[in-house]
Amino acid sequence: MEVGEEIRSFKVRAGRLGPASRDAMVRLWPVHGVTPPYDALVRDRPLVLEIGSGMGEATAAMAVTDPGSDVLAVEVHPAGVAALLRRIEEHGLTNVRVVQDDAVAVLGALPERSLAEARLFFPDPWPKSRHAKRRLLRPSFAALLATRLADGGRLHLATDWPGYVEHALEVLADDWDTRVVDRPAHRPVTRFERQGLDAGRPSTDVYASPRRLADWST
Ligand SMILES: C[S@@+](CC[C@H](N)C(=O)[O-])C[C@H]1O[C@@H](n2cnc3c(N)ncnc32)[C@H](O)[C@@H]1O
Repeated sequence: MEVGEEIRSFKVRAGRLGPASRDAMVRLWPVHGVTPPYDALVRDRPLVLEIGSGMGEATAAMAVTDPGSDVLAVEVHPAGVAALLRRIEEHGLTNVRVVQDDAVAVLGALPERSLAEARLFFPDPWPKSRHAKRRLLRPSFAALLATRLADGGRLHLATDWPGYVEHALEVLADDWDTRVVDRPAHRPVTRFERQGLDAGRPSTDVYASPRRLADWST
């Protein structure tokens, strides 16, 4: 374990859930929520891990258009978990499961080579240099993720923070093949992304595959 490994990429936010979120947790968490142990999460379809799903806007929209996918959405923020549960109900989704935990722990608990894709959409940028060590995409995380991706698997990163692209390409430089790609049509523009656009920060999408797996045919 490297120095600083225990540093978390998120801050635990205090605050009570509103009535709609509490209702979602009571009714929907038992149906769509997943608790440890996480080792039996892999089913017969390609598993997609969304890391830090936020309010679940992209999660739900992408699950609607790709019903054959098996999505595991991981988020630490309770209000985000509740929001995604409500979207799952609203769209009648059966291909999304929700985990409320640190994505690093979840990733570590998944079997090796179990993921078809890992999605990291708009990770917290931690823009101040003294906080940069909190960025989720750091060498130890990349090394762990590389072991969890299946053959042909890839990381899809999207960010509106220019420094994050540079940071990611640097972290991945040694052991991954990376491609900055045109905005894929299957990734919806979310409220979060719209705010970045309005602030003059267009998004960048990066596909990355550990070198041992690189296959750009899809
Ligand atoms: C900037 S938001 C983006 C949310 C969403 N992906 C989107 O595009 O709207 C980043 C999210 O990642 C979550 N997050 C950060 N570190 C995490 C971790 N280690 N495990 C799970 N969620 C995490 C935060 O709680 C936050 O909701």
